[in-house]
Amino acid sequence: SISGGGCPFHGDGGARALLGRTNRDWWPDALDLEILTQGGKNADPLGEDFDYAEAFNAIDYNALKADLTALMTDSQEWWPADYGHYGPFFIRMAWHAAGTYRTGDGRGGSSSGQQRFAPLNSWPDNGNLDKARRLLWPIKQKYGKNISWADLFILTGNVAIESMGGPVFGFGGGRADVYEPEHVYWGTEEQWVDTGAETRINPDEGKALENPLAAIQMGLIYVNPEGPGGNPDPLQSARDMRETFGRMAMNDEETVALTAGGHAFGKAHGAKPADSFGGAPESENLALQGFGWLNDKEEIANGNITTSGIEGAWTPNPTQWGGDYFRLLFKYDYELVESPAGAKQWQPVNPDEEDMAPDARDASKKVPTMMTTADMALKMDPDYRKISERFRDDQAALDDAFARAWFKLCHRDMGPKIRYMGPEVPAEDLIWQDPVPAGSKPSDSAVSDFKSRVLDSGLTVSELVKTAWASASTYRNSDHRGGANGARIRLAPQKDWKANEPDKLDAVLSKLDEIRGDLSMADAIVLAGAAAIEKAAKDGGHSLSLDVTTGRGDATDEHTDAESFEPMEPFADGFRNYLQTKASVKTEDMLVDKANLLGLSIPEMTALVGGMRALGAVYGDEGHGVLTDRAGTLSNDFFVNLLDMGTEWSVVDESGDEEFVGKDRKTGDKRWTATRTDLVFGSNSQLRAIAEVFAESGGEAKFLETFASAWTKVMDADRFDLTHAKYHG
Ligand code: HEM
Repeated sequence: SISGGGCPFHGDGGARALLGRTNRDWWPDALDLEILTQGGKNADPLGEDFDYAEAFNAIDYNALKADLTALMTDSQEWWPADYGHYGPFFIRMAWHAAGTYRTGDGRGGSSSGQQRFAPLNSWPDNGNLDKARRLLWPIKQKYGKNISWADLFILTGNVAIESMGGPVFGFGGGRADVYEPEHVYWGTEEQWVDTGAETRINPDEGKALENPLAAIQMGLIYVNPEGPGGNPDPLQSARDMRETFGRMAMNDEETVALTAGGHAFGKAHGAKPADSFGGAPESENLALQGFGWLNDKEEIANGNITTSGIEGAWTPNPTQWGGDYFRLLFKYDYELVESPAGAKQWQPVNPDEEDMAPDARDASKKVPTMMTTADMALKMDPDYRKISERFRDDQAALDDAFARAWFKLCHRDMGPKIRYMGPEVPAEDLIWQDPVPAGSKPSDSAVSDFKSRVLDSGLTVSELVKTAWASASTYRNSDHRGGANGARIRLAPQKDWKANEPDKLDAVLSKLDEIRGDLSMADAIVLAGAAAIEKAAKDGGHSLSLDVTTGRGDATDEHTDAESFEPMEPFADGFRNYLQTKASVKTEDMLVDKANLLGLSIPEMTALVGGMRALGAVYGDEGHGVLTDRAGTLSNDFFVNLLDMGTEWSVVDESGDEEFVGKDRKTGDKRWTATRTDLVFGSNSQLRAIAEVFAESGGEAKFLETFASAWTKVMDADRFDLTHAKYHG
């Protein structure tokens, strides 16, 4: 089963910074370009009008694939191809590009070409992949803006598999590059894995992997190949693999198929101790031009290379797809040995001549094959073993499982299938793509009739706004999952999430269902929210008309892998003033994190928080943060009252520092209650500056405008059925 549930930030009360250890911590001396992106200036040279999907569709796809196929065997002197074939090297590049994906926050993954930037370009686990990317440059250069690096990494992996006879399920393009390192929490450790850092899972010490992390040590994609903390114990390695691959949305079968399928190809590199090599790209000198981990030219030519430190191929045919991996794994006993670089690895005992591998530079020379401790887990762990034995005995089953798991690995963070471009998108719908049946557009009169029925239904502004928010705000632009389309808010597990106040939600949904007529539930929920907000604005003396784009469809349980939605449960939602459990980051950090996943700017986040407070759309009955005497009216009261010097704030919950009371500064009478998420808009100087704009004379119009557009942005965040329809005839 897929693990990865639980609070994505579970921890101990604001103990760490939201982003953990950042590039600036790792490389204090690196050139700082951030001062040039101040004032909202974009780092993207292609500009906001550039439409990558359109550019990709114009590419000569077959010519590109032919060029990539030719590249596989076009060995370059500065980094010769093992066995004369770069395929395995490129598969590892693609796997590491995609493999940083994690279900906890949907970040990482293949979709923006992050392997080009720090810290990923310098992670020990990405060792020497700088050379793989540089080998691709002539092709990137030739096809220009029509192929992004992000797509090129994955397509090259696919072509590599195909060129060695491996099974491929399909390819979808559409990953637009970004031009700066993404802000992602990768952990807090101050050491990379290869300097003996501690592992993140340690049952003896009751230590579990912190969410949303999905790697066992800083600088790794998943697990340490030598075993946990370098301890060559296959069963403990299986434990780590199950946890980390689970957080990549992979079950046991997919994990076995991927690892064994990947290691049908290529070799590990550990010819010399790691200290004979230079530093990682980000720390190397200018003359090396972004290369790292270098040794002298002659050693490279001779294949004396160290990447992981492990040395050798898994099979006798490292550039040919087939069943040799499992055949060898089960045919031989393996004994623990050390590579020339000093890494622990496993070697077959008394291998037959034909089960030896060719030397990477001289095919006439035979060398022993090997398995890593992680590979041994596929044989030693009882559950993995059953799957491995089945694949050993049924090559077609392995072919199918590998092809599908590879496709999922590489496309998991692309969101709805309509975002996939190109001639090789598989026709089959897959459950992990969260399919939503097509909706239809209701007539204008059906919409306005429904909105009046909503206002007569007895449902309150607060209920309607909270329901629409609960539905749409599941969206995250990290992996493009969630959102209002499909109305999965009606289905498990979302209908039962505590943040959604299940009983109240159920009552609202039943009522909407009763009065929706021919509208989809997904549209009805969004329209009802809009009706409520427009009424609330009118009650405040403003005329406001929200843009609602209808045409959403309703998903059913059959369209929904309920388990895969569990990691998306909000454990904090500052917009609703909800906090289930104190996290390892500050509660206001959680708000910022969610705003980031929703693609919001600072003013948009601010307007939404203030607006939802005014509307009374906060969690529970206590009404924290509702700094108004007319809850349910859309006004700037939240900001006006927050900035009022007549109120003095103090903390009420001593333990948590989460709840506050605002009293009349003169009389001491209680005026309001609030949380950290409210007070941060008065306490943080940057947020306060925006609160002032919304609270000042004439500022209410700006507030309403910002609130309305931010609200619509969230409601429509997942409407790829509209933005991408034009590319699909
Ligand atoms: C290479 C570990 C999963 C594909 C390697 C290397 C290690 C390793 C240590 C040697 C790197 C070097 O020294 O050059 C692991 C571990 C995994 C895992 C611990 C999971 C538990 C995968 C998966 C794939 C994959 C899922 C792809 C589907 C490859 C390929 C190579 C490789 C093709 C050969 C690269 C070359 O020949 O240059 N892996 N791997 N691995 N891995 Fe994995």
